[in-house]
Parts: sequence; C-alpha cells; structure tokens
Amino acid sequence: MPYRDLREYLAVLEKKGLLCHVEAEVDKDWEISAVCRRTFQGIPERNRPALMFDRIKGHDIPLVVGILGGSREIYATALETDVGHVLEKWEAGTKNPLKVRRVEKGPCQEVVLRGEEANFEMLPAPVWTVGQDPGAYHTSPFVISRDPETGIPNMGTYRVQVKGRDKAGLMINPPRNMNQHIRKNEERGQGTDVAIVFGTDPVLGLTSVTPFPYGVDEFEVAGGIRGEPIEVVKCLTVDLEVPATAEIVVEGRIPCRGREDEGPFGEYGGYMGAAGTHPFIEITCITHRKKPIYQAFLSQMPPSESSCIKGIGREAVILRHLKNNLGLPVTGVHLTESGGATGILIISMKKRNRFQPLKAMMGAWSLHDVFGKLTIVVDEDIDIRDSYQVEWALSFRMQPAEDVHIVRNTDPLTLDPSQPWKDGKMVKPTEQISSKIGIDATKKHPFPPLAVPPQEHLEKVAAQWQRYGIREVKGGK
Ligand SMILES: Cc1cc2nc3c(=O)[nH]c(=O)nc-3n(C[C@H](O)[C@H](O)[C@H](O)COP(=O)(O)O)c2cc1C
Repeated sequence: MPYRDLREYLAVLEKKGLLCHVEAEVDKDWEISAVCRRTFQGIPERNRPALMFDRIKGHDIPLVVGILGGSREIYATALETDVGHVLEKWEAGTKNPLKVRRVEKGPCQEVVLRGEEANFEMLPAPVWTVGQDPGAYHTSPFVISRDPETGIPNMGTYRVQVKGRDKAGLMINPPRNMNQHIRKNEERGQGTDVAIVFGTDPVLGLTSVTPFPYGVDEFEVAGGIRGEPIEVVKCLTVDLEVPATAEIVVEGRIPCRGREDEGPFGEYGGYMGAAGTHPFIEITCITHRKKPIYQAFLSQMPPSESSCIKGIGREAVILRHLKNNLGLPVTGVHLTESGGATGILIISMKKRNRFQPLKAMMGAWSLHDVFGKLTIVVDEDIDIRDSYQVEWALSFRMQPAEDVHIVRNTDPLTLDPSQPWKDGKMVKPTEQISSKIGIDATKKHPFPPLAVPPQEHLEKVAAQWQRYGIREVKGGK
C-alpha cells in the first residue's frame, strides 16, 4: 500500500530506525542549519538518520529534514523499495502515469488562514547560511502552477525566500518548466497563480525535484510510481489543485512582470551563489492540517540531502543511457557526494574493446551538460562507491600520458566558482565555457596476479576471527 501522506511515511521511517527526533529546543535562525551540517558531515551516509526537530523556539510546528535524501536507504524507503530497485520504480511510474482523483475536501484545508491571519512567517523556515543568506529560506517547497493554454499543471522545487508576512521570493533557473507558465501568462498581460506545498507523501517530493519534459504532469507520474492516483483538492484563492493530504499549502500570485532581488544563497557546490533578479509571490491564503509538520531539505556544501537526492536520480538516468541507448557493457555509475552529485562521475564497465571507456565518458557528457567534469572509468572489479579502490585503480591501471582525455569548449557546471574570470571579472553564466577531463583507469593489457593471500585463506581466517583475539584500537586517530 502506498503512503497516504507524510505522516504514514514518517511512521515507517521511525519503525525502520531511520528517523531521529531532536527533542531539545532549537533556534531555527542558526541552530537547525548547524545541527544538520554536523549530522551530514559527521555521520557516514549509510548510518545517517533523517531528523525531526520537535521543538523550535517561537514556533509550534515541528520540522523534518533528510526524510527524502538523508541516505540511499531513506530514498529507497520513500519509493517503497530497496536501494537496488530504485530505477525499476521510477521506470514503472513514468511508463504508467495515473490521472489524479479529484476530491471535494482534504485535510490540507482543515485550517484556513486569510487576510491578516495568513502570516507566511508562521512557518519555521530556517536561516541556512547564517550571515550570508539574506534571511530565512524554504528549501523544500513543491511549487505548483499551470500552463494557461493547456491547463496542465507543473510541480517543481524552487527555493522560496521569506520576504515578509505576505510576500515570498522564488528562484527559478532559466530552463525550469515553470518559467514557461510565467512567460505565457505575461504575454497575455496576466500574473501567474502559484501554490507552494510543504510536506506530502514522499513520492510527490521526489517527482518535484526531478526534471521531466515540459508538459509532463508530476502528479500523474507520482500516481504511477505509487500505483494509486494522487488525490487533489481545489485551492481556495487561486485556480490550482493541490495534494489533498499535504501538510501546508501557501496560495498566491506572481504579479505580471513582478521581479525583485533574490539571494545570495549557500549553494549545492559548497559556495555562495550570487544574488539575481527573480519573480516574487503575493500570498493570498495559507491552509494547513491540524498540527502540521513542516519539511525542509539540507542543501549547501556536500554531503547534503540535495547531493544524495540528485545523485540517485541522475545515476539511474546515466546508467540507462549508457547501457540501453549506447549498448555499452557498463556495470555501475556513481556521482560522488563530494562532487555534489555533479562534478565527479565514476563508471565501471566490463569493456569488450579499448575504445569503450572513452565512449562511456563521451556518452555521459553528451547526455547532460553538467555531468562529470572529472569522469573516471574503471574495470568491473572495482567498487565505484569505495574511493580507496578507485584511487588504487588510478594509481596502478592508468598512465597519464596515454589515458587522460581533455575535452575543451564544453558547457560549464552551474555555480562552479573555478570558472575562469575574464578582464578581472566573473563571466556571466550564459557566456561561460568549460572543459572536461576523462581518465581511463581500466587495465589495457594482461596484469600480474594480485598480491594478496589466497581467497580460501582469507575466508578461513574470517570464519574463525574470534580465535585471534584481535581488537580495534579504541579512540584511535
Ligand atoms: C534540494 C534542491 C533544491 C533545488 N532548488 C532549486 C532552485 O532554487 N531553483 C531551481 O530552479 N531549481 C532548483 N532545484 C532543481 C529543481 O527542483 C529540478 O530541476 C526540478 O526538476 C524542477 O522542476 P521542473 O523540471 O518542473 O521545472 C533544486 C533541486 C533540489 C534537489
């Protein structure tokens, strides 16, 4: 049975020991960010829990974070599967989308706040990069709008800046689908209705952060993945529909050509992203469930929830492309967390000829402009998630003069501060040119045998390990 709402999902995370409650009171304006950073940086990915901050100073709404991308296991739990079957779940959903089911009433409208009562600042949006972000930010909004010609809705995650009791800033990058809605409305001289949703069944959240072609309805894909349609209710002040079991819905309108300064903001690569001019929203109404739960994503420097979420989705897309479209014998694909699931790509393959490693690099680079500024290809015996093994392959299966490929004049990585300056100034994103480096760390000829004890000896020793009385050094540095 699919999760009906965020609450059912949190109960499953809790049962699996993947959710940790922070019962101590915390300050959203500095402390939540620092606690999340320490959790993500200090706890290895496989042991990292999602967090629920139960008591936030000055607020009566608890905050959950890391519940979609705290770790690969959490991500798979959100999709009701295990880590090895994430790709199948996505494929089933995209192949069999399900139309939404319209209902008259939903818990998301149990409490209705209009006019003076609709105070955007009631939500516990944290300040993430204290002293550098201009204020509090919503990092996990599912922003819904509609194409004025076709009526097809779109849902995407675009960060939302708190700009007062009834105003929000919205940072939408140029290629995003919602930009087309704003443009089409503005060509008609009209504003754009918006609904910002917080806290839903987890599949909706994962579709919100995943790019789909323009015109694909994320509600229908989410229905396909869940195997049951998403139930939606009509908004009260804008012409949109929202998931009926959402925790919180903020309704509003982007005025025609309404733009203002937005940012700077601590970005996924670990550096501050520059401020820009972006749409703003005038809030018309807030509705929520009784005792609502608020959701956030941890972004900023990797490791982060953002790098985990992006990594899993992108790895699936690259693997499918290299295997199914290009017919390459690729056995695994890994976008490292340290590279923000963008900069460093490692591919393993059971190559059949010496040309295939380069083909695999080229295949990944041409699939999407941002993947793998540094791409390393290794043989299938190397565990691509173990940096020690990858470095070993780089050290002993690669010759720099032969096996390194540099490709110039490629698309830049977004928000990459190493992008060279021109005339003493940063180059505008639209004019940036970058390059890629690919390293073929596969064996090119027969290698000598490995210098380790025979496998049967290692297995025998493992089976009787207690016998040797060897203990790890406690508190070793
Ligand atoms: C944690 C996180 C934060 C994001 N923030 C933004 C953002 O502020 N602006 C943006 O344009 N895209 C952002 N994205 C990427 C979009 O959510 C993603 O590209 C999504 O597919 C957009 O929906 P669309 O394809 O329907 O436009 C973010 C992704 C993640 C995982």
